[in-house]
Amino acid sequence: MRIPLVAGNWKMYKTLSETKEFMNHFVKLLKGSEKAEVLICPPYTSLYVVNELRQNTKIKLGAQDVHWEEEGAYTGKVSCNMLIASGCEYVIIGHSEQRTYFHETDETVNKKIKKSLEKGLIPIVCVGETLPQREANQHHEVVKKQIIEGFKDILDIKNTVIAYEPVWAIGTGRNATPQQAQEMQHYIRQILAELYGKSKAEEIRILYGGSLKPENAKEIFSEPDIDGGLVGGASLKPDSFYQIVLAAQ
Ligand code: PGA
Repeated sequence: MRIPLVAGNWKMYKTLSETKEFMNHFVKLLKGSEKAEVLICPPYTSLYVVNELRQNTKIKLGAQDVHWEEEGAYTGKVSCNMLIASGCEYVIIGHSEQRTYFHETDETVNKKIKKSLEKGLIPIVCVGETLPQREANQHHEVVKKQIIEGFKDILDIKNTVIAYEPVWAIGTGRNATPQQAQEMQHYIRQILAELYGKSKAEEIRILYGGSLKPENAKEIFSEPDIDGGLVGGASLKPDSFYQIVLAAQ
């Protein structure tokens, strides 16, 4: 039984006061009976305050990236130990914005996944094709390569989440259809089955991400291989994020 996960990726949004405003409102909406696990991945500067304000709720905390080294002279970077000490249980790895703007490669994704698993952080590994790749009918090949190289030499994927995020659907308002998302996510599960065996592959949660909104979440989440979502824009408002959490019932 895979428990759905609805994760908010705040990207580079929200100051401390905006974070407090969101949290004060959002915790009041939660009843505690929601079926989905609820995760917030704020910027690093808001981790502490989200951690404080989520106490006595079921909200989980995650970060948007991590460095693979234990510690050291890496200006601007944050380690797994720092995230864990800040209350994080999850970390997003390989987001397409990291891949596009900040030189993330399958090799760095691989190092980050390895370190996170070693430390006990749950990686949410993002994969997905660009529009030209889909139009050239290369989407399966692209995603397969991202998975095979991202998980190279990783023997156990028990504590891993995968997020399928077609790049053309991120922040564009143009979501994949439920059928497109289901087709790819089923394919991802087949790749995982080839690598790790069918029963392991059945345990892994595969999220959909890309222009999720209260209006489309229920239909997308009703597909059998879609175990929740990674939500960008719509996670910035307590009401819309909560509606998406409820859609995963
Ligand atoms: P979006 O972003 O929901 O704003 O499309 C999703 C993501 O980048 O994780």
